Amino acid sequence: MNIYLETMGCQMNRLDSELLVSRLCAAGHEIVDDPAHADAVLYNTCSVRQHAEQKVLSRLGADGQRKQAGLKLIVGVLGCMAQRTGQELRKRYPQVDIVCGPGQLTRLPELLTAADKGQASVAIDPDRKHQPRPTGCEEIDDMDLARDPSRSSSPSQAFVRVMRGCDKFCTYCIVPYLRGPEISRRPDRIVEETRRLVQAGRSEITLLGQTVNSYRWQAGELSVRFSDLLAKLSAIPGLRRLRFVTSHPVDFGDDIFHAMADLQNVCPYLHCPAQSGSDAVLKRMGRRYTRADYDGLIDRASEIVPDVSIAGDFIVGFPGETEADHQASIDLIRRTRYKNSFIFKYSPRPGTAAAERFIDDVDDATKKSRNNELLAVQNEISLVNHRRMIGSTVEVLVEGPSPRADRQPDAPPPGQTQLIGRTVGDHIVVFNAPDGLTGQYVDVTITGATALTLFGRHAENQ
Ligand code: SAH
Ligand code: SF4
Ligand code: F3S
Repeated sequence: MNIYLETMGCQMNRLDSELLVSRLCAAGHEIVDDPAHADAVLYNTCSVRQHAEQKVLSRLGADGQRKQAGLKLIVGVLGCMAQRTGQELRKRYPQVDIVCGPGQLTRLPELLTAADKGQASVAIDPDRKHQPRPTGCEEIDDMDLARDPSRSSSPSQAFVRVMRGCDKFCTYCIVPYLRGPEISRRPDRIVEETRRLVQAGRSEITLLGQTVNSYRWQAGELSVRFSDLLAKLSAIPGLRRLRFVTSHPVDFGDDIFHAMADLQNVCPYLHCPAQSGSDAVLKRMGRRYTRADYDGLIDRASEIVPDVSIAGDFIVGFPGETEADHQASIDLIRRTRYKNSFIFKYSPRPGTAAAERFIDDVDDATKKSRNNELLAVQNEISLVNHRRMIGSTVEVLVEGPSPRADRQPDAPPPGQTQLIGRTVGDHIVVFNAPDGLTGQYVDVTITGATALTLFGRHAENQ
């Protein structure tokens, strides 16, 4: 059948969608870009904030109307929101035929066949509280290994999962309840999958895990740490860039920083969220480190890894956050000088410890103004960081034509296109160059900057 798949979540969710596309195509289905031409519409959803869920519900409203008007359409809700709402979702939205959690995606072809015969399904993992710890992740692993590299969304980049789940249970976060316990994949399988992707032209690989740096695989005497995995992967011929996200501050040994410094194709880029700069808030968030621990970590990373580029996440308006706590977050942004920060307004998630224990007592106007304030400080820092790069020549992996062709001061001359690419430190660079460079590594001299983007001149245009 013709299937329309919309992905609404994080990188892990995007990878799930990509693996799913491989599986659905192998089962004889076709993926279409327009929901109007689809026999089935599938939403791969996110539950991390309430806002993410609202988007799906509005889509379901529209699909319900189309079905009521007599259209034959299969509607599937997949991913984290499916796992969170389960049977309840079908009760409230009877237009939904398939509810399928992230741990059950291998079953989707069979669920589609059933739906086509008029049989609805809810496929979710049992609540992890009432289950023994699983010992492996063969099913999910099968999907990773069976992927068709030509299906990846970019010709030069790909994600590879090194672990699934999360055991940290930060008090605000729903992810550990939806993605299950933390399980590391076998290193030989990760190497095998990466090798295949690199052979198929994916020269930049991003390793994924909710707390990717806590990767550890153990069998008898043998123990493979994350830094060991980096070393194994970095030896794959043709792998130009190796990145990993997201790191948890408590799981960093210096071995990882040394691997980043010593292995030439491991990018000097860390996404290491702090969430807050205040000890009192970090404690209520259950983050397991203090502000001093985090500062020490950043100092170690900066000492060991030359020119390390660090991205962060912050939550504003966590329950009980005072103006002084907020100022501590501003201070942390100024101290760390992040490359960029993702800033979120706290959103209570049903079932999490924070939602049960604390009142969501910071009003929305305050959350909004704190969000804007952090963004303004971050933008000021990003602009200074970017301006420092003016005059330098950087290697850029070309991702394709710039989606907003008006961003660069000079319009491209005839025969050239405005391209967008990224540096090893994940800086975005926009420049004019001949068509056909997508997927290649080129040198660009930086000539201008805003807080979000660098502008440059392609080496051959000088
Ligand atoms: N595993 C990753 C990502 C978790 S979700 C990590 O630990 O960093 C991505 C980001 O969403 C988090 O870093 C956090 O900043 C934010 N987030 C998670 N739960 C949230 C909530 N309830 N309200 C607002 N932001 C939240
Ligand atoms: Fe959520 Fe914390 Fe796990 Fe990240 S480490 S997924 S924020 S519980
Ligand atoms: Fe990702 Fe959202 Fe699930 S952030 S893990 S898709 S809740």
